[in-house]
Order: sequence, then C-alpha cells, then structure tokens
Amino acid sequence: MSPEVALASVSGLALVLGLWLLREYQYGKKYRLPPQVPGVPLFGNSFQIPALQQGPWAKDLAAKYGEMFTCKFGANTWVFLNSSRVVNDLLERRAAIYASRPPFPMTQGIMSGESRIVLMPYNERWRMLRKIMHQILSSRQQDIFKPFQDLESKNLCWDYLQTPDRWWSANARYANSVIMSVVFGRRSMLDDPDVIELFETLELFLENQQPGVNIVDAFPILDKLPKVLQWWRPRGQRIFEQTVNVYKRELDRMEEKMANGTQRECFGTDFIKTEEVKNMTEVQKLFVFGTLMEAGSDTSRVTLGQIIAGAATYPDWVSRARAQLDEVCGNNAERLPQWEDREKLNYISAVVKEGFRWRPNIAEIGAPTMLTRDDEYEGYRFPAGTVFTWNAWAIALNPGEYEEPERFWPERFLNGQEENALKGHWAFGPGRRVCVGWKVGEMNVWIAIARLLYCFDFEEIPGKPIDTMSIPQLTKHTAPFDVKVTPRSVKHEELIRRDCAYAAEVRY
Ligand code: HEM
Repeated sequence: MSPEVALASVSGLALVLGLWLLREYQYGKKYRLPPQVPGVPLFGNSFQIPALQQGPWAKDLAAKYGEMFTCKFGANTWVFLNSSRVVNDLLERRAAIYASRPPFPMTQGIMSGESRIVLMPYNERWRMLRKIMHQILSSRQQDIFKPFQDLESKNLCWDYLQTPDRWWSANARYANSVIMSVVFGRRSMLDDPDVIELFETLELFLENQQPGVNIVDAFPILDKLPKVLQWWRPRGQRIFEQTVNVYKRELDRMEEKMANGTQRECFGTDFIKTEEVKNMTEVQKLFVFGTLMEAGSDTSRVTLGQIIAGAATYPDWVSRARAQLDEVCGNNAERLPQWEDREKLNYISAVVKEGFRWRPNIAEIGAPTMLTRDDEYEGYRFPAGTVFTWNAWAIALNPGEYEEPERFWPERFLNGQEENALKGHWAFGPGRRVCVGWKVGEMNVWIAIARLLYCFDFEEIPGKPIDTMSIPQLTKHTAPFDVKVTPRSVKHEELIRRDCAYAAEVRY
C-alpha cells in the first residue's frame, strides 16, 4: 500500500470512528432498542458472528435474550426477531415500513452492479422487477412448470439409480434444469460446466453477503472514499465480471439460437422483446435472467438435501409416507406419483413443509430488511435505518413454537393447511419481501420428493452419522453429508428403468 493510500485509509477510519461516536450518543438519547449483545467498539459483534452457518450462534443468543436482541455490525444496527409473534407484528403487519434493504455497497453496488432484486431497496425499480418475476413464477403459472418438473424429476430418479453416490449433483441439475427450461428453453445435464460455474458465482455472492465479511457493507460511508482508495473494489469487480459472464453466456446462446431458428419459445424469448427490457441497461437485463437462474436452482437443491437427511436420521416418518404413496400408486411399484395425485398425497405436502421448517439453512438468520421510518413497539423506539431480521434457526428450533422441534415430524403439518405452503414456517420470509418463487420452489420439491420416497431408501452410513445441525448450504460442488441411496426393491428399479430412462435422452 502506498503512503497516500495508507494516509487516506487512516483518515477514512478516523471519520468513521467520529461519526460512530456521534451516532451512539444521539441513539442513546432518543431511541430504545432491545437488549444489546456486548461487542467491541466500532465493529460491534462483527468478529463474533461466524462467517457461515450462523443459525446455531443466533439461536443461542435468542435463548439468552428472549424475543428480541440487538447486534451491531459496524455502523449497522440489527434487531433479531426471535418469535413468530414479533415477526408477525413487525415484518408482516407493518410490512409497508419494514420492507426495504440496507445499503450493501460491495455485494449489491460492486458485485451486482446495483441490479440484484433481492438486495434492492423498496422502491419503484424493485416493484417493476418484482412484477416481472411474479408474472413468471406465480401460482397461476403452475401449468407451465408442471411438465418440466415431471420430466426433470424422472431424470432425477434415473440419475439416482445410475449414480447414487452423486445424489447431490443430481439435485442441483434437477432444480437448475427446471428453471433453465422455463427461462431459456434449454435443459441442463449432469456435470454441465456452465451450471457448476453458476453455483460457484452464487456461492461467492452468498459468502460475501454474510454480515461482517466486507468492511464497506459494515460501514457504507466508506463507499464515499475515492474509488482508487477502495482496496476491496478490484476483488468485487472481478466477481462482478465473472458473474455477468456466466449470465451472458446463456443469453448469447439463446440469441444465437433465435437467430438460426432453433430456439424454443420460453420466458426469455418473450421477455427480451418487452417494453420493460428496452428501458433496462445490459447489466440490469442480465441480472433478471441471472437472479432467476440462481434463486431458482440453489434453494430447491438445498431443501431436497434437508429432506433426505431427515429421512435418513428419523426414518419412522418415511414408513408412514410410504404407506400413503403405496395406497395411491401401488405397493408393488406399479406407477410413479403424478401431479394428479396431489390431493390424495397430503402427507407428502406435509413432508415438504417440514423440510422447509426443520433446519432452515437457506437463510439461517433470515434476510435483513430495513425500517424506513422511526417506529415504536412494546416500549422500544426504533430509528429509521434499523435493520430487522427473523431469526429463522431460533424460531424453527424453539420448543415454544414447535413440539419436539429437532425431530423431522411431518405430522405437525397435517392440520388441514397442508396445501398452504407459506403457513406455519418462515422459510420463504415474511411480509412484502416474501420469496416471489415460493410456489415454483414448493412444487419442485413436492414432485421430486414424492418420487424419490416412493422409489428409494435413504440410510445413514455406519461410522458416518449425519450431523443435521451443521449441514452446509454452500458446498463447493461436494456432498453436504454422506448417505446411502438404494432402490426400494427390484420392482422399483424396473419402474425407473421403464418410466424414467427416456428422460435422460430428451434434448433441447
Ligand atoms: C425452494 C425453496 C425456496 C426457498 C426456501 C426460498 C427462500 C427465499 C427467501 C428466504 C427469500 C428472502 C425473503 C425475504 O427477504 O424476506 C427469497 C427471496 C427471493 N426468492 Fe426464493 N426461495 C425458494 C425458491 C425460489 C425460486 C424457485 C425462485 C425463482 C425461480 C426464487 C426467487 C426469489 C427471488 C427473486 C427473491 C427476492 C425477492 C425480493 O427481494 O423481492 N426463490 N427466497
């Protein structure tokens, strides 16, 4: 580092320190926040929070502090909401003022060219993009997704039969191929290098998104330093370029096929002709496609893994799921579960909901939203700019919320609300930022898990027990845990050969 850069960095930090002290003073006088977890000056709790898998850490704090506690991550004040009651009161009922996002100069500004919808403030741009996403992903579009989910879940069973030790890659391919088929009109195959790179860039984004990882996200004022002094910028820029290249490769491929007349009709072919796109920059357009690919792939893959871990570690419920599956589809592998069976397979719908609740490791400490004006609640006074999150792990594993919370127990959701996928857990988030792809995600998991449970056994491997409390979300293309996958019987194997083999041959 040159002396000029060093001097400027020191001045920058001194400025931050001064502003921080001033703000602490003003805060103390005017506002009242829930109990604060002790931290260090300036950086607060940034060095305590684990870089990944923060759920157990935040759950322990909830056990100590009760329904709400406050953490400081640099200049940002986070209030963790640790019960469904307070999440409902604030993030649901007062959603209009609790739905924005705090600034993320690194992950949103540099790494995403200000264009990732999930990190956008609650404004007109977000509303426009949310509308576009909703048009593709809402429950009204079920019939568009169903045939792709049918084909891809047959391919999934085929992959499990052929390469059972690659079950996690098969899950990733499955989830990715459904969304690729709808958005780009193309399938993805096992070990597709483009898919592997998509997951790599997504994991880079998620790693960088954790609180405390990037100094400029902790102290957004540092974004005001001249660009040449921002030592984090070149790294962010490199990730941005790599990410955009992954998205662009897909778009280029589609446009090439459109030009030579071989492209299938799909969301992408319609979307690039719309008025909305004409008003977007190239980067904004690429991030619409990129967000769909990323958010659509990773989440279903992770949830399928969770349910498999639940089947291997709490096998009692699997026999009850099988009893219903066998009653509907035959107890001698007569046929695969179909969409038309859904009404009769309410136990499977309960399994899917339990899979979302059990170990919510897609957003272990929720997703941060920012309060847009001062607010009061039960004796507290929150300033505008406070960040709020639902403490997902703490709520999901609280015996006050769920009986025997550590157990995978689908019966807890056999309550007449099986088809209401959003009710009874917070896996898709609360309020106005609730996951816009929840219906697609839920359907992805439903048909895949119905078929996998009907056809395969999942067992722990002796000597390699699954630690269900620390299943990683970010796996760098490796298995999140070890599990033995075998077909249920010779008859089930024959069923897969008969009904699923063709799926691996279909090309578009
Ligand atoms: C399968 C299970 C899925 C889970 C558990 C899940 C979970 C989540 C969560 C926790 C959020 C943040 C909510 C918040 O900030 O309060 C979110 C946002 C989002 N999800 Fe999902 N998701 C899933 C599937 C999908 C799919 C299939 C898509 C698209 C194809 C998708 C697209 C999005 C988008 C675009 C957002 C950002 C919404 C916004 O900020 O307005 N998700 N999701």
